[in-house]
Amino acid sequence: MSATSGQGLPGGSGDGTRAVRAGLPEPVRHEPTLPGPVFAAHFHLPGEVTGPYSYGRDDNPTWTLLERAIGELEAPGREGVETLVFASGMAAISSVLFSQLRAGDAVVLPDDGYQALPLVRTQLEAYGIEVRTAPTAGDAQLDVLDGAKLLWMETPSNPGLDVCDIRRLTEAAHARGALVAVDNTLATPLGQRPLELGADFSVASGTKQLTGHGDVLLGYVTGRDAEAMAAVRRWRKIVGAIAGPMEAWLAHRSIATLQLRVDRQNATALVLAEALRGRPEVTGLRYPGLADDPSHKVASQQMRRYGCVVSFTLPTRARADRFLDALRLVDDATSFGGVRSTAERRGRWGGDAVPDGFIRFSVGAEDPEDLVADVLRALDESSR
Ligand SMILES: Cc1ncc(COP(=O)(O)O)c(C=O)c1O
Repeated sequence: MSATSGQGLPGGSGDGTRAVRAGLPEPVRHEPTLPGPVFAAHFHLPGEVTGPYSYGRDDNPTWTLLERAIGELEAPGREGVETLVFASGMAAISSVLFSQLRAGDAVVLPDDGYQALPLVRTQLEAYGIEVRTAPTAGDAQLDVLDGAKLLWMETPSNPGLDVCDIRRLTEAAHARGALVAVDNTLATPLGQRPLELGADFSVASGTKQLTGHGDVLLGYVTGRDAEAMAAVRRWRKIVGAIAGPMEAWLAHRSIATLQLRVDRQNATALVLAEALRGRPEVTGLRYPGLADDPSHKVASQQMRRYGCVVSFTLPTRARADRFLDALRLVDDATSFGGVRSTAERRGRWGGDAVPDGFIRFSVGAEDPEDLVADVLRALDESSR
């Protein structure tokens, strides 16, 4: 077989086919399919500085293969798209914001996004950047776009699972000369491809469902503007927020099963959401894949899969704590997207505007009937 990279696959290859082959190098006799991690602080470099690899903070062959893999999933078949991997999702987010914005610029951020965004906001403001905010749903971003340099969307939002119309907001932002970045963490590139919807950057935490085993911190930026991406690359070099070769290799290995995991976890998330709908103690149930969810209409226009996170509210903090305690198949832990289900009372962090009994539930790869039975039993037990 000659075509091994995703870009070399026959046109129209499915997500599973692309996932298992994403980023693989051309086969070399007696070499492994996916070369092992390259642990190197420096590379042989006699004479002039030429060629791709010189110093380990600038580039690494293990990153190169992973970056190719992510690019093939985020923007299949697109020329001129570049992906850069980072030490974490926050490193990736910061690389875009801090490399693109200058004192005097304005940026639009979600006011209901990932809970570290307010910390980023404070830092941006300390650098003289004006930060405007808008909720994810409802198009209020349109009212604060004039004069902005960058529009940042997080869709679906974490933890509220609201969705915004990427194409519509991107067109409006571009008409005003603003760049657009989308946090694609919750959807994964198999759920949503922001660049195809017009965005300039797709940015994500690879810590979540992309890698899916709860053992790697990683982030990435995929972008199509060469100048903007050069600035993102420069930012990575000067801040040094780089992925370790082992993490990069684990991530690449995990991507081979992305479609399997995502399809299983997302299908079970829908089953769980439907089971929760029948429970009188559950309010505020959200899952973008539910036909009557407030996010569903827009989500169904731009998402190919709806994610593995379900959120809902139990009547009190004590009830939510008892529920989490009673679960046997679900770990009380933060983060999401892993093959082992996790859930947490999100209010314990203090950073999200959610009720005390709000639960963010990340559906894993357990058998759906086992998971649903565990959740329903834990709901029953927590009522006592
Ligand atoms: C939507 C979203 N973006 C970014 C991040 C940050 O990612 P990381 O923890 O890999 O830095 C998270 C983490 O939970 C997230 O949920």
